[in-house]
Amino acid sequence: MPPKKRVVYLLHNCLPYELFWSDGASISFPFSPKGNRPVRIKPTINSKMYMTTDVNSPRKWEADYEHKSDGWDLGGPTPIFKRLTLRSSRQLIPGRMIVLGAGRGYDAREFARNGFQVTAVDFALQAVQEMHRLSSPEAPVEILQHDIFTLPETLTHSFDYVLEYTCFCAIDPKRRAEYADLVTRLLKPNGIYIDLAFPLDGRRGGPPFAVSAVEILDLFQKRGFKLLSHEVPADSISPRRGAEELFIFQKWID
Ligand SMILES: C[S@@+](CC[C@H](N)C(=O)[O-])C[C@H]1O[C@@H](n2cnc3c(N)ncnc32)[C@H](O)[C@@H]1O
Repeated sequence: MPPKKRVVYLLHNCLPYELFWSDGASISFPFSPKGNRPVRIKPTINSKMYMTTDVNSPRKWEADYEHKSDGWDLGGPTPIFKRLTLRSSRQLIPGRMIVLGAGRGYDAREFARNGFQVTAVDFALQAVQEMHRLSSPEAPVEILQHDIFTLPETLTHSFDYVLEYTCFCAIDPKRRAEYADLVTRLLKPNGIYIDLAFPLDGRRGGPPFAVSAVEILDLFQKRGFKLLSHEVPADSISPRRGAEELFIFQKWID
């Protein structure tokens, strides 16, 4: 009898496997120690079935967008950045800005609408497609589908501002020093790093992985950044109130 083929997902790593039985017996999963074991197990490479929880892979984020597991999405810019971009507040002079892990690009467009020359980067196809769909001539944004950690050298020292919101908490926490190096590389001398840090709630696991003020200050002050301002915003959206803090640093060159 030809081997019967069934496909199952081994949940410990979310990779699909093909299992082949010689006798067509029903699947018992997890496998019974008494038998009924498949005669052959082979990982399946099938892009439609491929799933991963690896935050370093665009596929994880693409699956989240596809399955509407994008609970981070506010559906518009955060009120905190709307306040910062108010011309009347004159807090920030428009300049060239890069937005890392931009998602659907609401914050990128908010700055662009207010005179900033914005580049928005995300490696997830759906995020980039959404940014194109939502783009408007009043808020022109250059959209790049790229892994932030491999951005080209041509962008080095190109930006007056780096904008961070919910990208730092999305990357593998082991890569945070690499992220701080990236911000340092992208900024011009005396450039500004705007970091709306979330979530500062000490949660376990992620994404989003917890961040802390101590860690952020250490990462950036160690690289010669000077803290210009630090606040616990009163205008955070209510579910994030108290769990996010705004840091504005300057890459300090004497
Ligand atoms: C939690 S979402 C936040 C999106 C957006 N900042 C927002 O607030 O709506 C994180 C985003 O970062 C992107 N991302 C994660 N790691 C990335 C990487 N290494 N390079 C580029 N984008 C990345 C994901 O695709 C996802 O769109």
